[in-house]
Amino acid sequence: MATMYLMVGISGAGKTTWARTRMAGAEYIGSDGIRMELFGRELTLKGYRRVHRIMNQRMRAALEQGRDVVVDSVHLSRRARRRVLRAVPEGVRCVAVWIDTGVMQAIRNDACRQRHVPFFAIALMRPRLVEPKQEEGFHEIWRIPWEERAGCAAGWEKVQKYEKNENPAKIT
Ligand SMILES: Nc1ncnc2c1ncn2[C@@H]1O[C@H](COP(=O)(O)OP(=O)(O)OP(=O)(O)O)[C@@H](O)[C@H]1O
Ligand SMILES: [Mg+2]
Repeated sequence: MATMYLMVGISGAGKTTWARTRMAGAEYIGSDGIRMELFGRELTLKGYRRVHRIMNQRMRAALEQGRDVVVDSVHLSRRARRRVLRAVPEGVRCVAVWIDTGVMQAIRNDACRQRHVPFFAIALMRPRLVEPKQEEGFHEIWRIPWEERAGCAAGWEKVQKYEKNENPAKIT
């Protein structure tokens, strides 16, 4: 049975990092990549519906072919998650992967990467985040706290530097 992993978490939480390193076997579908394809940049409020429609179409196509898929966007509200869940074909296992990172840590993470989300936008996301629950239609909920990832970031090549509190995004 194919699995759809739906990432949940505020900007800077570490969703993309986790999805790319831990779910490398699943097909990756991210809203940033689709925004880049359509509008030439990752950060824009343009075309929300269009972006998410394309994500759903690609997700469905991959799942119908039996491939596992990871759908990467903030998915803060039940409504946003419902839109994805509705597009999932019958018989697919659905897992919500909640990358649970505090606001201050998410802002620090954001400062380490090349594109930046305004810090107030990150802070405003936290109260909008509704914890994912099985009753929404998920078979499983995985909550991944920041402490676990920061402490044992297996496969994270720069973890040593990170532990020394250096900026991992700038060391390459
Ligand atoms: N496990 C980790 N160990 C060390 N640094 C990390 C880890 N996870 C994330 N980071 C750092 O945090 C930054 C933000 O992470 P990431 O881009 O994955 O967040 P995101 O949740 O996908 O944000 P957005 O919703 O804005 O796309 C990364 O550039 C990286 O520097
Ligand atoms: Mg991301």
